[in-house]
Amino acid sequence: MDVSIFGLGYVGAVTAGCLAARGHRIVGVDVAASKVAEFNKGNPPIIEPGLDRLLADGLTHGRLRATTDAAEAVRATQASLVCVGTPSTVSGALDLGYVRQVTREIVTAAAAKPEGHALIFRSTMLPGSTRSLVQEFAPEALARGRLQVFFYPEFLREGTAVKDFDQPSLAAVGTHDGSAPPAALAELFGNNAAVVSWESAELLKYACNAFHATKVAFANEIGRLGKSLGLDAAAVMQLLCQDTRLNISPYYLRPGNPFGGSCLPKDVRALVHHARQSGASLPLVEGLLPSNERHLHSLLELIANSGEREIVILGLSFKANTDDLRESAMVEVAQHCLGRGFAVRIYDPQLNLAALVGANKRVIDTRMPHLASLLRPDLASAIGTRGLVVVSQKCASTEDLARVLTPEHRLLDINGWPELRQLPARYQGLCW
Ligand SMILES: NC(=O)c1ccc[n+]([C@@H]2O[C@H](COP(=O)([O-])OP(=O)(O)OC[C@H]3O[C@@H](n4cnc5c(N)ncnc54)[C@H](O)[C@@H]3O)[C@@H](O)[C@H]2O)c1
Repeated sequence: MDVSIFGLGYVGAVTAGCLAARGHRIVGVDVAASKVAEFNKGNPPIIEPGLDRLLADGLTHGRLRATTDAAEAVRATQASLVCVGTPSTVSGALDLGYVRQVTREIVTAAAAKPEGHALIFRSTMLPGSTRSLVQEFAPEALARGRLQVFFYPEFLREGTAVKDFDQPSLAAVGTHDGSAPPAALAELFGNNAAVVSWESAELLKYACNAFHATKVAFANEIGRLGKSLGLDAAAVMQLLCQDTRLNISPYYLRPGNPFGGSCLPKDVRALVHHARQSGASLPLVEGLLPSNERHLHSLLELIANSGEREIVILGLSFKANTDDLRESAMVEVAQHCLGRGFAVRIYDPQLNLAALVGANKRVIDTRMPHLASLLRPDLASAIGTRGLVVVSQKCASTEDLARVLTPEHRLLDINGWPELRQLPARYQGLCW
């Protein structure tokens, strides 16, 4: 394929070298004439292991060249990859100035091509950026199918960029409506790339980087705490990483219920308290409980904004298959709704009030002494004929729910239970 690559920095230069090595014919474009001149001599504009060899091979085989002439590069190619920088402004906002300039150049040059052109953004941009760029520069070309636009986030790391390009840790491509890109472009995106909307692909890149930053900050905070306690936190973190079931795994990485139960809130609270006493500042760990409270608050807002006065809670305990009510978000929801004068009905087949003992019983005695009057013994009487059904747990089958729900009901899905969307009620998700 003939591909132009705009921006010959870390991402663009590596992409040019790697795509040329796969047999594509590449035209690199940069505003820096000196960079282009060096590139055409096979001198990498950046230090990156393996790149000098790739550029030299590409030039030798006539599959690689660079230019400052954007229009000529677009005319000579079928697709343009945008890899220019997206720096921060002084205020911290994202500066899309380079991307806007390049988009204008590509769209203008592509307008003269009867066969159409593909515009593929690789620069990191906030959700909504691709759509607003297209609306600004090429709404008609997109509508008429003359321009195909994709957001294809880049996950390579400097220092191992060539290896990362060949074996990406993740591949996802955003299209305007989430439909699959044409097969002709599959060789650029790879056959295994997940296909999502422009905005989801844009968010994915930020979610990954925020997650990486969270991991680094977390390890560093545990490191500082360990040091203040005279412990080898590096060894502790090594052990933490050995747990690939709960720690280094997809577990706990799904948006849903605020965390609760007898351990996480209590232990985070104790850790924060202990760290403060030992003089270690842990802003990330200190932010966990406020973050959790903010999440509960947004759930309460959704309930309030539903306009419903009857609230049905499916699953009161803090997670499925337990009767533990300690620090359960749904206990908070029930209390909050009662305090606002809502009618509350609860269904939780795991909960046997007579069997509750100890701290678990104290939650009920002190916080919800009238719980017994809210609990319904069967699904049908809990669901009733109308109201907002807050589904925290799968404590009823979808078949049973389908039998008792009506279009008069609203469903608020807390934990992402896909089958709920098919039920005869108005569906809403907590985070989707
Ligand atoms: N560096 C990384 O490891 C990495 C990884 C993934 C994603 N990204 C993202 O990729 C994008 C590019 O990052 P980078 O580190 O390669 O940037 P960079 O600053 O190294 O390179 C950008 C290049 O774009 C060129 N440029 C600017 N305006 C231009 C124009 N109008 N026409 C042609 N070229 C122009 C610059 O001269 C420069 O050579 C950013 O959005 C970045 O966030 C970077």
